[in-house]
Amino acid sequence: MIKIAPSILSADFCNLERDIQRVSSADYLHVDVMDGAFVPNITIGVPVLQSIRKHTDMFLDVHLMIDKPVRYVETFAKAGADLLSIHLEADHPEHIAQALKVIGECGVKKAVALRPITKAEAVLPYIEDLDLVLVMTVEPGFGGQAFMESQLDTIRQVRAIIEKYNPACELEVDGGIAPKTAPLVVEAGANVLVAGSAVYKAEDPAAAIRALRI
Ligand code: DX5
Ligand code: ZN
Repeated sequence: MIKIAPSILSADFCNLERDIQRVSSADYLHVDVMDGAFVPNITIGVPVLQSIRKHTDMFLDVHLMIDKPVRYVETFAKAGADLLSIHLEADHPEHIAQALKVIGECGVKKAVALRPITKAEAVLPYIEDLDLVLVMTVEPGFGGQAFMESQLDTIRQVRAIIEKYNPACELEVDGGIAPKTAPLVVEAGANVLVAGSAVYKAEDPAAAIRALRI
């Protein structure tokens, strides 16, 4: 089954509760955390996640675009994340492994995220222990960018690795997902689609979510 994860990065932060309710028919709520160091943008952090957790029962899929995530995973887990994605490029492998261990100990689902430059094989050391792999289909940092078709190969390769080592693992894609690009990523093997602009810039977000479910 295809799951849709609206990204609140494209929501109106002054009306966040309303904008979360508008996407309640979706499967996950995607929360983009940016630190101004790993990516050239700063978004939201722990206090906002805590507030979101108080106001919704939706599954909170928290995408950490931060350097050295091992420093913060426990805090984000306690703030209410249901799943935490950490970027493989954000620290040395031993610290990535340590961060994943802490996430698991907190009872939160574990995911690694790949920038477009990162090869699919980079997930191999972790794959058997992951709940989800997130393949970026834009450079992380901003909503509203154009989908990178060149990432379809990476999605296919990650799907093959998942099928071989951990078929229960989900494959999420993030960036430029819209009704035109959704069939391409699903055909390549994605099963969780993040969508910011395609959902929140639409007149009717619920209809936009339905349009992405193919
Ligand atoms: C970008 C973020 C995305 C972003 C996607 O770095 O990780 O989640 O919100 O936005 P759209 O769907 O507009 O490309
Ligand atoms: Zn994201």
